[in-house]
Amino acid sequence: MNTAPQAAAAGIPRPTMIEFRDVNKYYGDYHALRGISATIRAGEFFSLLGPSGCGKTTLLRTIAGFEDISSGAVLIDGKDMAGVPANLRPTNMVFQSYAIFPHLTVAQNVGFGLRRKGGTAAEKARRVTEALAMVGLAGYGERAAHALSGGQRQRVALARALILKPKVLLLDEPLSALDKKMREQMQVELIRLQRQVGITFILVTHDQEEALVMSDRIAVMFEGQIVQLADPETLYRRPTSRQVADFIGVMNFLPAKILTEAVGRIAIEVQGLGRAEIDETQAPGPITGGEISVGCRPETLTILYEGQTASDRETPGTVEEVVYYGDMTYYDVRLDGVDSPVRISMRNVFGRPVLDIGTRTRVAWSAGALVLFR
Ligand SMILES: Nc1ncnc2c1ncn2[C@@H]1O[C@H](COP(=O)(O)OP(=O)(O)O)[C@@H](O)[C@H]1O
Ligand SMILES: [Mg+2]
Repeated sequence: MNTAPQAAAAGIPRPTMIEFRDVNKYYGDYHALRGISATIRAGEFFSLLGPSGCGKTTLLRTIAGFEDISSGAVLIDGKDMAGVPANLRPTNMVFQSYAIFPHLTVAQNVGFGLRRKGGTAAEKARRVTEALAMVGLAGYGERAAHALSGGQRQRVALARALILKPKVLLLDEPLSALDKKMREQMQVELIRLQRQVGITFILVTHDQEEALVMSDRIAVMFEGQIVQLADPETLYRRPTSRQVADFIGVMNFLPAKILTEAVGRIAIEVQGLGRAEIDETQAPGPITGGEISVGCRPETLTILYEGQTASDRETPGTVEEVVYYGDMTYYDVRLDGVDSPVRISMRNVFGRPVLDIGTRTRVAWSAGALVLFR
């Protein structure tokens, strides 16, 4: 699933590129950024992910210098950016709307930021050619910008930002105007481009799948706060709150209670599944008994066909809904003794029939795939 560059995990730790120190931002009385503290490493593909209105764009603009902060500090490459205007910061931004000049050619758009910089015309033309090649638009320089497709405009916007060789490229929902096929193609190209140029990319998106596919690390934001910051796999497998679990992918929740807690191990009783023992790393910090809930992803549950046995545990249930996707089938199965059904995703296998609604079945599950929530 995750095709994002993982070099950071393998190699030496990268130095810090961006640091937020307890950043707060008010619009009048409205507290838009609430004590943001985080670091973004050099060369990282970093995403700010969250629902519309949670403060992603505002946070991105504090890096660019388009937005003053009310308190705290934003550092870029170790320098406090207080009082540093946008044009003197080592950042460049690609806007949601692309902001292409329609009356200019592609080359004039891409070279726009160079017009007041030094260098000969020939040198500038060479850089434009280079930037166009980088985004897959070699030979498009003399075209009129207004005649481009959505995907091509997006590439022009990228080339125009990259030609200035920023340390940090800021991307505010750059793919949201594209259709699904083009968006997926541009996702792969953006990853490739980031690897090639090696600069820090910070992407704003409300699309969880996009963030998972593209990022080295993701900061999940709700209501002006970062609620979890982790690599895609950790976010998906070990969300620390129901809110994050719900926002990223599909998560089944089952009521549960804590039975006993020993060192590192927690014994729980889960409605529909029964007793299970889990590791403390499957819980978001200390949990002090009482009513809790247990989460499990649809692909961690498996419907057992006749003659199959569970490698770990199994529990009976009834198929209540079937949604066929061609390569996958989603089943809603009501486990015995549970009020609401769980979603189970099954990869379709040639020769194995899709089950009918009402089928009695057995569901295999594993304690290791459960996540605890307060
Ligand atoms: N210039 C502004 N004046 C007042 N409120 C603003 C301004 N810009 C953004 N906001 C508010 O701040 C919140 C966060 O906005 P924004 O950062 O654009 O969210 P996101 O990019 O996550 O959708 C929203 O509630 C928005 O209405
Ligand atoms: Mg926004």
